[in-house]
Amino acid sequence: MASIKTLVQSKDLKSLPSDFAHFKDAQESIQTGPDVPVPVIDFSLLSSTNPDERAKVILDLGKACEEWGFFLVVNHGIPENLISALFNACNEFFDMPEEDKLQFDNKHPLYPVMVRSGTIDGNDSNQQVKLWRDYLRFFVHPEYHCPTKPKEMSDIVLEYSRRTRDLARKLLRGISQSLGLEEDYIEKAMELDSSTQIFAANYYPPCPQPELAIGIPPHTDPGLLTFLLQNGVEGLEIQNKGKWLHLTGIPGAIFVNTADQLEIISNGKYKSVWHRAVLNNKKTRFSLVVANGPSPDTIVTPAPPLLRETPPAYGQMKYMEYVQLQRSSRLNQKPTLEQLKLH
Ligand code: OGA
Ligand code: NI
Repeated sequence: MASIKTLVQSKDLKSLPSDFAHFKDAQESIQTGPDVPVPVIDFSLLSSTNPDERAKVILDLGKACEEWGFFLVVNHGIPENLISALFNACNEFFDMPEEDKLQFDNKHPLYPVMVRSGTIDGNDSNQQVKLWRDYLRFFVHPEYHCPTKPKEMSDIVLEYSRRTRDLARKLLRGISQSLGLEEDYIEKAMELDSSTQIFAANYYPPCPQPELAIGIPPHTDPGLLTFLLQNGVEGLEIQNKGKWLHLTGIPGAIFVNTADQLEIISNGKYKSVWHRAVLNNKKTRFSLVVANGPSPDTIVTPAPPLLRETPPAYGQMKYMEYVQLQRSSRLNQKPTLEQLKLH
């Protein structure tokens, strides 16, 4: 189908085309809690030479993972100019003519590049309702793939992926410790030298009836930690204690959420957070997402040191099989993570 961007530009839409109606009426739709102060982690404290400071931030990280599955990272050290260059490059990508964008969509058997509109995961055929979103998604590690247009994009994404891999690894050291594991447990067990990293750019144009449609329906992410940047326009919601909470960012901070394989490693202590992307009728929203996961061949299991007094709550699966299973599942199917639960 044509992109949502083209649809919005070509017609003066006053109401939502019916194939995008995710909710029957506004009442059924999004109920957001009050804006809640979500945990903020000062990344620079993780490399503090003061042991008390470091112990405190590890405790905070553990709490954020356990109680929220979500936190904002400040002082992460990723240069502002790299982030703005990344937004510009992705914006230029979405601005290209349809056929230029689509030439990058390919069916690489392991590492596809996806340029899609209106669909969750390239699965148009079994999806009834379309999503109000265009996206570009590709693997950046252990194999690097990136569209070659706009021409500056590849270098910028490469640098961003290198920096975010480093950030993920350092956060995961703190998270390992917060679980009572050796600092390098996760990076060794998940073979992070060849970690799987997926980059995605999501584009959500203004929607004529935002309360009836959705950008991305509720889901959890595959991997260990997902990083998200947005262009200053809100729209990310997480589920917390049974309620949907609308999140307010901090300029320059990175949104981080815990993902499925971290739930498995922690044997359920750190839940993969359910989240979704909602829309508005005024501004285009952009989000740039990096899913940081184990190496493709790693068999992910609950960490054995956590199983001394508790039985394992999840079965095991190779990470890449998990990603492929999730990509091919239907929206109305039992989530992939649920399928791995043992009881
Ligand atoms: C995702 C995602 C949310 C957003 O890409 O997996 O959850 O706000 N995105 O774009
Ligand atoms: Ni997500």
